[in-house]
Amino acid sequence: MPTTAHLRQRRSQFLERITEPVLLMAGGEVPRNYPANVSPYRADSNFLFFFADPEPGSAALFDPRDRSVTLFLRERTAEDALWHGAVPDFATMQHQHGVEHVEPVEQLVASVQRRAGGAAVRTIAVADPQATALANQATGAQVAFLDSGKVADPAVIQAIGGLRVVKHSEELEEMRRTAVVTAEAHHAAMAHTRVGVTEQELCGIVTGVFARHGCVPAYNNILSVRGEVLHNHHYTNTLRDGDIVLLDAGAENGSGFCSDVTRSWPASGAFTAEAGAIYDVVLAAEKGAIAAVRPGVRYRDLHLRAARILAEGLVDLGLLHGDPDGLIESGAHAVFFPHGVGHLIGIDVHDMETFGDAIAYPAGRTRSTQFGTAYLRLDMDLLPGMTFTIEPGIYFVPAILGNSAFREQFGDQVGWGRAEQFLAANGGRGFGGIRIEDDVACTADGAEVLTASIAKERAEVEALVGSA
Ligand code: GLY
Ligand code: MN
Ligand code: MN
Repeated sequence: MPTTAHLRQRRSQFLERITEPVLLMAGGEVPRNYPANVSPYRADSNFLFFFADPEPGSAALFDPRDRSVTLFLRERTAEDALWHGAVPDFATMQHQHGVEHVEPVEQLVASVQRRAGGAAVRTIAVADPQATALANQATGAQVAFLDSGKVADPAVIQAIGGLRVVKHSEELEEMRRTAVVTAEAHHAAMAHTRVGVTEQELCGIVTGVFARHGCVPAYNNILSVRGEVLHNHHYTNTLRDGDIVLLDAGAENGSGFCSDVTRSWPASGAFTAEAGAIYDVVLAAEKGAIAAVRPGVRYRDLHLRAARILAEGLVDLGLLHGDPDGLIESGAHAVFFPHGVGHLIGIDVHDMETFGDAIAYPAGRTRSTQFGTAYLRLDMDLLPGMTFTIEPGIYFVPAILGNSAFREQFGDQVGWGRAEQFLAANGGRGFGGIRIEDDVACTADGAEVLTASIAKERAEVEALVGSA
């Protein structure tokens, strides 16, 4: 957990960047069926950025005029103490968090209006609709969580986004910790892989490792032999000889910081010559993009570098035809690599995606309209301390390879017949997909791969598979 001194420094930096009071909401517990049966609590990311272990339902008013922070907490009641355990009183919480004031959240609307004294108060929408409604009531704003254009005032987004985008050493340390847990989970899944094991069992092993370290999955684990389904959340298959297992899973700890890692390995423990060749191309693209990381480099160029290496490999394999630069220009590479090479990561696995592209695409840059590159979630120039994923892949997707519009658009740039062999491979089940994903911090002169301890060399992976 980041120290109080660090969190106070972050709050102080935020106060320096805003000109009007800002109300942040932690959000409350969200029921999973009847009101008293709630989903595990997870505070809003902007709140977690400033407060360790936030209480459900809390809020905070940042006032730049007197540089004060008022924390709003639920009143302590005897009933709560009975059912949920006693929590420290307001004076203790004020000292613990190092804030100027603590007030009851039950009086949030009146307190915010009294403290604002007529000044405009800004706020940011959160996933909990009740908390967002309360923030709107207290501030008169009309923010909405599900509409990135209405999630907050643009100046507030830039004020907080500018802080969150460059990780402090304490924040990087949180991410290094989740990387260690994520490594154990990936290695355990590889070690327990055998023909005949179910995806569900391996998925349980991954989540179990996270839980044993006090972590949760930062997003729904993807563990599938159908790796070509990019966000596959089903675990219904039994592993068979010839299958490639794709695991995309990362741990999130109590601070909210997380990992996002993908590895792909053969169910049998040995890559076929063809799967090994695809694996080597993906690994070369991943390493090539990581090798290009340094301050000032445009993230989009990392995407294009990975795409270029993939295109060269796909030409060698007879899956694309022509000059790699021409293939990138036309977008033919996206038939096999239909997504962006990665995204910001931090306290959100897709960091600050709540704000749409407001942080990830700086002024003057907009999304490409080309298939594939349109899914690139980040187009900033890299800064030291920025953290992001690098995650190229090659997939054999029936919905793409069978699409007549793509066949017409890319014509003989794609080896359609060769690709069909991959769709028919593996006893008709299809090849699936291979992705390799690491979390990377830009340093003063290069890259730190936060998740470097997770096996990805082909021989290393093969040695781990089935070793439990
Ligand atoms: N795990 C989702 C992603 O890699 O972006
Ligand atoms: Mn990712
Ligand atoms: Mn991922």
